[in-house]
Amino acid sequence: MFILGIDTSCDDTSAAVVKDGRQIISNIVSGQSGIHTKYGGIVPELASRSHIEMIAAVVEEALKKAGITLSDISAVAVCSGPGLIGSLLVGCSFAKAVCYSRHIPLVSVNHLEGHLLSPFLEEQSPEFPFISLIVSGGHTSLYTAEDYGKYTMLGRTRDDAAGEAFDKVSKLLGLGYPGGPAIDRLAKEGNPKAINFPRAYLPDTLDFSFSGIKTAVLNFIRRLPSDQPVTAHSFLADISASFQAAVVDVLVRKAEWAAHKTGTNRVSLSGGVSANSLLRQQMFEMGKKRQVEVFIPSVALCTDNAAMIAAAGYHRFLKKELAGLDLNPKACLAL
Ligand code: KG4
Ligand code: ZN
Repeated sequence: MFILGIDTSCDDTSAAVVKDGRQIISNIVSGQSGIHTKYGGIVPELASRSHIEMIAAVVEEALKKAGITLSDISAVAVCSGPGLIGSLLVGCSFAKAVCYSRHIPLVSVNHLEGHLLSPFLEEQSPEFPFISLIVSGGHTSLYTAEDYGKYTMLGRTRDDAAGEAFDKVSKLLGLGYPGGPAIDRLAKEGNPKAINFPRAYLPDTLDFSFSGIKTAVLNFIRRLPSDQPVTAHSFLADISASFQAAVVDVLVRKAEWAAHKTGTNRVSLSGGVSANSLLRQQMFEMGKKRQVEVFIPSVALCTDNAAMIAAAGYHRFLKKELAGLDLNPKACLAL
């Protein structure tokens, strides 16, 4: 069974064809970083305009690469939130038009469920139940996943998402947007112990907080003596490495605590920040040390993509959870 997935939740226009909820036949992602880089972050109006320009071509490309036509599609799964409302509207309107004109069932998918189920697109995938840590530009949340569609939240960020902290610190350091990959790259040349940035472990809860570390980086830069060149490459590398180490320490510890607290020995990590090389390495090390199986999708499936939406949509379609043509996206949508 082929599901066509569509995701336009943020700044990537993506369409994918997935077979039986697990096998990626095509997964096209058209990024917009070229449009937003000069503004140091996503400009929502520019994002939605670009989605309008790209969506038809991206869907066509996904079908073409899969070697199929719309007649072979069993359902269209579209991300209906959370995300930027103008961006979501483009994907939802397009999906509804396709379903209406071709009499194809429509399935509405929560973006976070897409991230949570993305490890199932890999050969090695977790069995239920497992702990899922979703770390993206808009979310940092821990769940217990008991089954498809059955998720219990264990904790979430009380302020900034981890990805947001990466993006803001990158802007502060003049490294550009998106910040995560830029900091990841530069941190490889720096000393993670150069600056002891605070780790907000919030030991009594599985919630997170990343606004403090962002402010700590800002204060650190402001307090520097006037003759210290902040732009020096090695200095920027040390700040990047020290910031990244602090964020990764918290994420790994919290995932470990969640596994321990719930007596679960399977942990999955997904969302854009799970592309981070240090985070991936330290999660696997934690897993080895604590006898916890760790599942992290390949880097291309960590950041936004429509294959994860098609995979999640497949299970909703099997349960006959269809959306009507009156589907309206929502900027804020809990999992
Ligand atoms: O999941 P995603 O593509 O979009 C949202 O749903 O938000 O995540 C985007 C976030 C951005 O904040 C970006 O800076 C971050 O993921 N990111 C990374 C890396 N690659 C992307 N953060 C740290 N290290 C990376 N290598
Ligand atoms: Zn995402």
